[in-house]
Amino acid sequence: MKGVILAGGLGTRLYPLTKITNKHLLPIFDRPMIYYPIEALIHAGIRDIMIVTGGKKSGDFLSLLGNGSDFGLKHLNYTYQKGEGGIAEALGLCEHWAAGEPICVILGDNIIEKNITRAVRNFGEQRVGAKIMLKEVPDPQRFGVAQLKGERVLSIEEKPKSPKSSLAVIGIYLYDARVFEIIKTLEPSDRGELEITDVNNWYIRDGSMTCEVLDGWWTDAGTFESLLRAANLVAEGGANRKE
Ligand code: G1P
Repeated sequence: MKGVILAGGLGTRLYPLTKITNKHLLPIFDRPMIYYPIEALIHAGIRDIMIVTGGKKSGDFLSLLGNGSDFGLKHLNYTYQKGEGGIAEALGLCEHWAAGEPICVILGDNIIEKNITRAVRNFGEQRVGAKIMLKEVPDPQRFGVAQLKGERVLSIEEKPKSPKSSLAVIGIYLYDARVFEIIKTLEPSDRGELEITDVNNWYIRDGSMTCEVLDGWWTDAGTFESLLRAANLVAEGGANRKE
């Protein structure tokens, strides 16, 4: 399985911190934000990694990460997203590189306490379709929210005003190679972006979506409150624990 880290966007919710740099280069306690998703993929056994950057200071990713030697990698892949086309558009840029293999996608501002080893292994056995990861949160209206029946996902709503559950769809997704054909059929949402939630709802309609609840804490870091929360959680106990 290959890994994709989405680290583009303008990070407008963190302005002026993002006035002169990319959100994913900002610090979370003792490391730049982008270090955490890289480590999360590596702990799950994924070493073939593509970083999609964009916006300001995208060249700084190369200066910071190079070929990934800080992580024991020999090579890292980079691509560039022009503008603010959304998460699904950014993922679409990886089609040629993915070359028909299943992929694990992680949003560059998502940080986890433990690891996704089991989900990656289970998806390796599932082979067809997609898998999302869920986490119970106090503020589901900030996220994609899943409605479940037993273990089956019925639907996902993006930032609903009246959430049907408190299960956020976190920014870690596993897809088969069909994902790139699905992305080509999407229309921009009201915020003018190709939404990853529309990709996930396609797989739900196809009957090939599975889900797992993540162990340990999870946070994004795209707002002032969540950036601070992420730093405090990492400072208290560290992220990306192996067990
Ligand atoms: C994105 C997704 C949302 C998901 C969230 C996780 O939201 O659209 O479904 O729950 O990431 O971090 P964004 O942070 O881009 O608004």
